[in-house]
Amino acid sequence: MKNKLEKIKQEVVRALQQAIGSAQLDDLKVKYLGRRGEVNKIMKQIASLTEKEKKEIGQLANQIKSDIVAEFSKYKHVANEKTSNSFLDVTLPGEKIESGHLHPITIVRQELEDLFSSLGFMILDGPELESDYYNFEALNIPKHHPARDMQDTFYIDHKNAAGEFDLVLRTHTSPMQVRAMQKYGAPLRCVVPGRVFRNEATDACHEHTLYQLEGLMIDKNISIANLIAVVKEMLSGMFKQEIKTRVRPGYFPFVEPGIEFDMGCLVCHGQKCPSCKHSGWVEMMGAGMVHPNVLKAGGIDPNVYSGFAFGMGIDRLVMMKYGINDIRHFEGGDLRFLQQF
Ligand code: PHE
Repeated sequence: MKNKLEKIKQEVVRALQQAIGSAQLDDLKVKYLGRRGEVNKIMKQIASLTEKEKKEIGQLANQIKSDIVAEFSKYKHVANEKTSNSFLDVTLPGEKIESGHLHPITIVRQELEDLFSSLGFMILDGPELESDYYNFEALNIPKHHPARDMQDTFYIDHKNAAGEFDLVLRTHTSPMQVRAMQKYGAPLRCVVPGRVFRNEATDACHEHTLYQLEGLMIDKNISIANLIAVVKEMLSGMFKQEIKTRVRPGYFPFVEPGIEFDMGCLVCHGQKCPSCKHSGWVEMMGAGMVHPNVLKAGGIDPNVYSGFAFGMGIDRLVMMKYGINDIRHFEGGDLRFLQQF
């Protein structure tokens, strides 16, 4: 038994010298120090020895066991070593890093930008954190006007010198109408894509965070016919087919007259579904002729110039383009949804 113990120790030393990598090290540990390992096998046999032998062999076995444990700790570094004599095929492809891709809203936004650039519109960008003045007042929506209720938003907890909360998350891209007029004057053709916010209960067609594209065209003799022509041009460019539209009167304090554009629902093709609130039509944009007060706020003379403006929900358009039935997918962050684009 003594010899056996010595032999085991020598075996371990030899095996450890040749061990490569953590897997081999673990195997050796199990083989020699495991519950059913070589050392324990001997330990079990000790019970059947005489008292004298028990003492002698027992001591030796314990000694050998702790020697072996010490040997193992000497070889810890082996665990991290790479196979030295194994073949490394450098021509194998590396680990693939998955690249991301554009969000469907970004895809459509870029298409719209291309479309409107080709019609000679500037693409502008505006602040998401907007002043009460540009978001409401300059757009002919004075304080306490009931029209503010249509666009409840998130106010920033900061008061101006007059003690008023005057910073809001913009509720639409329309504040850029006045900013653009002030900066560029008339004549003017621009679109403004961007993120907007509403304090809203969410459902299949309403979100608190959404995207709009504002359009503004100001020149002499601009009429609502120009507005309808541009919108139709945009829709056929976008969907590569004739799209059914319908125009209804709509109220927005910053246009006069104001209209709303609906398009036939492309999710259900008129069959009525949750994305079109079971009507077969989807509200696509508010629009109208720019109100004289808004032109004045932008420093443009309403007696010389007129213009049209529209504000379109990009989310809705994307839903129609791809047949998406719930607006909440866009901000939901679910890769099963996003990876389809
Ligand atoms: N800003 C309006 C909205 O978000 C849409 C609109 C834009 C209406 C321009 C008329 C003119 O609902």
